[in-house]
Amino acid sequence: MSIIAPSILSADFASLAEDIKDVEHAGADWIHIDVMDGHFVPNLTFGPLVVSAVRSYTKLTFDVHLMIQRPEEYIAAFIAAGADRITVHAEACIHLHRVIHLIKEAGLPAGVALNPATPLSAIENILDDLDLVLIMTVNPGFGGQQFIPQSLEKIRQLKGMLEARGLHQTYIQVDGGINSHTAALVREAGAHVLVAGNAVFTQQDRAAAIASLR
Ligand code: DX5
Ligand code: ZN
Repeated sequence: MSIIAPSILSADFASLAEDIKDVEHAGADWIHIDVMDGHFVPNLTFGPLVVSAVRSYTKLTFDVHLMIQRPEEYIAAFIAAGADRITVHAEACIHLHRVIHLIKEAGLPAGVALNPATPLSAIENILDDLDLVLIMTVNPGFGGQQFIPQSLEKIRQLKGMLEARGLHQTYIQVDGGINSHTAALVREAGAHVLVAGNAVFTQQDRAAAIASLR
């Protein structure tokens, strides 16, 4: 059974807490929180203040995706704001091993995200330390983009790498262009955690939207 993590990037920011509670009631497993700095990606969203503002409205896991440069500078602030797990981009970290251990030593599961053009070899030397690998299935920065089909082979290869090392607890997460059609493809390829923004938040019936991704 897939873990479904609606991305609040596509939520109504004028009533963010209500939208989060709505998808919780609709069966969401995690809340995916897309943090963007306007430098690492060509979009600017929000920081720890927004995370802490909505923290008390739900018990769901806050899955924080840092699409920012120098994420190590903000790990403590997002943890204080209520993050339950933090994912950083391999492309944004000069010292990726150090950043991953900064997150883990603070007691949180740590993930690494790979942009579509970044090979899996970027994480082969720290794969045993990771709780999650996020395979970006669009170029990061915006919701509502088209799924990149080459991602499927990358997911399959990652699944093979994890199985070869006996890493059965490490999540494969996918993010971008996930809908009822692509959800079936990524699940078959080996994905465990499906992030979906537009496919959930643009729908009136969020429960049906989430169910269609499982
Ligand atoms: C893109 C974000 C994704 C995005 C997914 O940079 O990381 O989480 O919000 O949006 P959809 O599901 O609409 O493609
Ligand atoms: Zn994301």
